[in-house]
Amino acid sequence: MEVIITASPVEASAQAARIAAGVVRAKPGAVLGLATGSTPLRFYDELAGMHARGKLDLAQVTTFNLDEYTGLGPQHPQSYAWFMREHFFSRVNIAPERIHIPDGLARDIPAHCAEYEAAIRAAGGIDLQLLGVGSDGHIGFNEPSSSLGSRTRLKTLNERTIRDNARFFASPEEVPRHVITMGVGTILEARRCLVLAFGEAKAAAVAAMVEGPVTADVPASALQFHASCTLIVDEPAASRLKRAEYYRWVYHNKPEWQRV
Ligand code: F6R
Repeated sequence: MEVIITASPVEASAQAARIAAGVVRAKPGAVLGLATGSTPLRFYDELAGMHARGKLDLAQVTTFNLDEYTGLGPQHPQSYAWFMREHFFSRVNIAPERIHIPDGLARDIPAHCAEYEAAIRAAGGIDLQLLGVGSDGHIGFNEPSSSLGSRTRLKTLNERTIRDNARFFASPEEVPRHVITMGVGTILEARRCLVLAFGEAKAAAVAAMVEGPVTADVPASALQFHASCTLIVDEPAASRLKRAEYYRWVYHNKPEWQRV
């Protein structure tokens, strides 16, 4: 895994946006896997800024979001469909018919999940998957103990994630208990993964993900098996990495052609 330690979330997000823009410029019909939460907000600002300056055309891009709360429709302000419209889709030119987000109101959830997987396949697979990391080591909403081969399905959130995400709701009781999420196996099939993590609260999860054993106890650790995964963190999120100096050394000694 490539680990890039940056001075700030602003720098990390700019770098991540340059990577994503590079993928789209090389392949205008790229398929992007997208995430919600606090972490990617500046990343979306960066991409929207590039678009506004005429530097990034997303007209042919297809997107698949990682997850959605069940019971929340796209008009619910805490739904991820709402989040994506608010923070990204309303600011760029992605064709609405090429935007995919799991349907939190799906009646037949297993059938909907199978259709979601089929839609990813039909689009040619995900070229770049953006990921955040939960403080408990989840990716998507694959909580600890998730199968590392799992596919898109219904998951029950654990209490820690409900607490972490309660900041978006009036109270923890309002956080839905269930979500539809791409599985770890689904995520691992993306051609490239780009993980962002910021702040001290993510330091333990980041260390376990990068340097710990691969275990369902830390679903993000499955990314150690991914052939092309880049993690971009700020200093506080990197603070528990044993090999931080080595990662900095590698980055500073990158051959010019590998730089973004
Ligand atoms: C969001 C998602 C989650 C978040 C994670 C971190 O679509 O899949 O895995 O990336 O919970 O959330 P934040 O960024 O709010 O700390």
